[in-house]
Amino acid sequence: MQHSSLVVVGSLNMDFVVQVDRLPAPGETTLGGNFQMIPGGKGANQACAAGKLARCGRVSMVGCVGLDPFADHLKASLAAAGVDVSTVRAARQTPTGVALIWVEKSGQNSIVVAPGANAMLAPGDIESARATFEGSRCALFQLETPLETVEAALRAARAAGALTILDPAPARPLPAELLSLVDVLTPNESEACILLGRDPSRVNVADAAEIARAVRGLGPKAVVLKLGDQGCFYSDGHLELAVAGFAVEAVDTTAAGDTFNAALAVALSEDVGIEDALRFANAAAALSVTRLGAQASAPSREDVDAFMARPVA
Ligand code: RIB
Repeated sequence: MQHSSLVVVGSLNMDFVVQVDRLPAPGETTLGGNFQMIPGGKGANQACAAGKLARCGRVSMVGCVGLDPFADHLKASLAAAGVDVSTVRAARQTPTGVALIWVEKSGQNSIVVAPGANAMLAPGDIESARATFEGSRCALFQLETPLETVEAALRAARAAGALTILDPAPARPLPAELLSLVDVLTPNESEACILLGRDPSRVNVADAAEIARAVRGLGPKAVVLKLGDQGCFYSDGHLELAVAGFAVEAVDTTAAGDTFNAALAVALSEDVGIEDALRFANAAAALSVTRLGAQASAPSREDVDAFMARPVA
């Protein structure tokens, strides 16, 4: 295994989590379980999971928080996972991002994000963090920070020779110029449909190959279509692969996609082949689903290795 070095550019949120029997209907008040605050944010979740999964090398987070206790808590959570937070800027007069999350018994969730300081992450922050990209093998992005900043960061990562992996979440249509800077785009089915301007309610797993090819036609070099417990489908124009998922008892699907991306980046930066890297990512995501919370659910490398090595019944 070679020395790996990953950069994550994105959001940090404090997640306010309540477990519920079922999601409330519009206008309805329901009683839920205990309230919990758990470190989250798509960017920070990816950094935390990468920190726990990487065997060696540095994982760095580029982001923006407020000047409040949530910021301290979020940075401490990343630091505990071995992530370098020296490029997480503190913005004055803007609170740290928060997310309100309801988790159903089935493990499904609903999330509303108040971006706060995440919206203050600017192209200038990427310029200030330019040295962080130097020597990195892989850089991870999502869409909870301004699009112009994501694009500036993609350019910085490309200039440094890093493999760029973009999780297009929360979903939105993206300009072709930005997509052309992406090496691996990792939508789930509904995100893929939004990118393609299709109706997400009509998606079928049987259409995975066609959807992945269509998304690749938008500009990224390769697409990994994430299919939840069904695994994922990979397409890069030369190679197409369906990689099966792992059946687990779902407790909370929050951050499963973030854990998948982190694991994929860790494996690719260790020169693992694409099929094994996707299998490793499926396993890490499956394990994260068995635990409540975002960063709290990110598995260690030992957990994932043991899970993959277990005898299959
Ligand atoms: O992907 C899960 C994350 O989405 C949560 O941690 C929440 O903060 C939102 O960003």
